[in-house]
Amino acid sequence: MEKTFLMVKPDGVQRNLVGEIVRRFESKGFKLVGAKLMVISDDLAKTHYGEHKERPFFGELVDFITSGPVFAMAWEGENVITSARDMMGKTNPLEAVSGTIRGDFGMTVGKNIIHGSDSAESAERELKLFFGENELTSYVKQD
Ligand code: CMP
Repeated sequence: MEKTFLMVKPDGVQRNLVGEIVRRFESKGFKLVGAKLMVISDDLAKTHYGEHKERPFFGELVDFITSGPVFAMAWEGENVITSARDMMGKTNPLEAVSGTIRGDFGMTVGKNIIHGSDSAESAERELKLFFGENELTSYVKQD
């Protein structure tokens, strides 16, 4: 079954949005298979966001994502990668429609509440970066 990596960013944790965000994915029917509250190291932040290293906002992005705890999650379900991105809304919260997480709670592109893997390759890479093999749980979820 498909898995994705989602992360409530420091602004989302500070604003007490962890519960609301988990609730949305649970209510949709996805299965939470891993989660932890953690402060990301500088090295992990630079590896995770490596594809953006030439962008002018890279330093700001790394500073922000390491500025406080994030809530890292692994979710499982049919088409969960695309579906979670739809539920998150556009990267820039000002362009994200109401009803999406960023549309409902975000204000700026830098502090946009949540990160989610954008492809199957990214999901595999990001899940491995944030979770050890023993940290993902396998269980049967009742409907
Ligand atoms: P995310 O989905 O975590 O992936 C890369 C992040 O870069 C993105 O969300 C934004 O938070 C951030 N980002 C994109 N554009 C800018 C920008 N112009 N200034 C600051 N951060 C940005």
